[in-house]
Parts: sequence; C-alpha cells; structure tokens
Amino acid sequence: MVHRCRLDSNDRLPAEAGEAYRRDGVIVIEDFVSAEQCNVLKARALALVAEHAPEAPGTVFSTRDQSHAKDRYFEESANRIGAFFEEGAFDAEGKLCVPLDRAINKIGHAMHDLDPLFDAFSRGPRLQAVAEGIGLDHPQLVQSMYIFKQPGIGGEVMCHQDSTFLYTEPQSVVGFWFAIEDAHRGNGCLGGIPGEHTKGLREVYMRDADGKLKMEPVQPELKWDMSRLEWLEVKEGTLIVFHGAFPHLSEPNRSEQSRHAYTLHAISGDADYPAGNWIQRPAALNMPFRGFV
Ligand code: FE2
Repeated sequence: MVHRCRLDSNDRLPAEAGEAYRRDGVIVIEDFVSAEQCNVLKARALALVAEHAPEAPGTVFSTRDQSHAKDRYFEESANRIGAFFEEGAFDAEGKLCVPLDRAINKIGHAMHDLDPLFDAFSRGPRLQAVAEGIGLDHPQLVQSMYIFKQPGIGGEVMCHQDSTFLYTEPQSVVGFWFAIEDAHRGNGCLGGIPGEHTKGLREVYMRDADGKLKMEPVQPELKWDMSRLEWLEVKEGTLIVFHGAFPHLSEPNRSEQSRHAYTLHAISGDADYPAGNWIQRPAALNMPFRGFV
C-alpha cells in the first residue's frame, strides 16, 4: 500500500515517509493544504481560463490544419500561461458544445512564476520540508499545470512517467500533485505502480538537432507490472509526491463531478538539465527557475 502520512507538528516530513518515497517512488501527504486555499486557487484558475482560453487555438472549427498553430502555442506555453481544450469539448462539427469553463483540459506551464497567487501557493517552508524529506537537493520549479478533469468529458491519461517530459542527468524530477477537489475512482483519480520507478525511464521527449520535439526510446522493452496498480483516492487538500520515473495514469472522468488538481514539477539544481528539454529559460527572458523558498 502506498504510504500515507501528514507533516508532523513541526511541519516536517516524518522520516518513515522519506523511506517510503525511496522504496515506492510515491507518498501521499494528507491535509497538506486547507480547503480555503484550494478554493482560492480554483477561483484563480477559472479566472485564468476566462482570460487565456479565448486566444487558444482550437476554439473555432477550421478546415485548415490547426496542428501547427497548436504545436506553436504549446511550445510557447513553456514560459507563459496557456489554456488547452479537452478533446470531448467539441461536437462533430468542431463547435464547442460545453461552456468555456467546462471545456478546458488544463492551463500551464508557468503560472508558478507569472501569477502571484499561484506563485505563493507553489512555494513555502512546508514544501521545502517535503523536498528535504525526500532528498531533493536545491529544488528548482520548472513547470506548473492546473488540470480540470472535467465532468463527463475529462479524458483518460495513459500510463506514463513524468521524467519522459522533463529530464535531468542524473534523474531528479519530482512531481507534486495537489488535489484541489476530492479525487476518487468515479472522477478519474490517479493510479500508479509503487516500486516500478526503480526500473528507470522508458522514453524521453526531447528536442532533436533540428529543434523538433519528439519521443525517443530509452528502454523500449520496459514493461510495468500493471497487476500491482494502486488507485490513489484522496481528499481535497492532499499532496501526492512522486518520483519522475513513477509510472502513473488516470481513467476518464465519466462522473458529473470535476476533479481539479494542481501539479508542480521540480528538479534538483545540482543535476544537469539538458538543452533538449522542451522548457528552457534563456537568460534574456530574465525568468530563472526558482525554488520553494
Ligand atoms: Fe503525469
């Protein structure tokens, strides 16, 4: 069973949770953020949708191939705030068939650096204590996503490893997954396979010599033992922390209840961050990666 804990009375991560993280590649920290903080973040996320979704490609059906515009919009979202639609939000003619605030799959990927409220939520001594407890040295936040997992149309996420999309040498990526609403089997909670992170990475999404992002096999023969999959049903305010090589997935949300979650990905400032990673912060941007404190 995946280890569940709370921070102790000094806001430190209990030592056995650090051990469980090393063994399983995942821990669940209950009551990490208050319901009030969750509600504030949710309201801000919806405001960002209202602000950014109208400019996102995909809103209006076009016979023209929109994939180029979508690719560019995605790449530019590395260092800004972009909104991404749920596939099921459009009817057969390509028109939006749900209200805008029910149509968005996620926003990302730099809210933690650009939006003051997300910035404050994403940092602080309690998160620093978790990083220390799991052995993440000199954490640097690289990416943030707010995932809506909309009622009825929230799509399936196939089993994957987050280090496929953010890669360091040696591996140091850690995912911080905050339940902003209750997550359960009915609305598409996370599931994952404890211990499988020790097998390493299956594939990596990197920029090639021509600057094109593509998937490269690392261990294409790698198989995960799906018979040991555990569902991580959690209450609002819970923080799930997982290793970049922890295989995880989520089912479609077929319920009438959304499943909002906020995710942060941190790397160790001591690790090498290859130039092939899709998120880069050129010095001219004057927006270097920052840590929890
Ligand atoms: Fe993931």
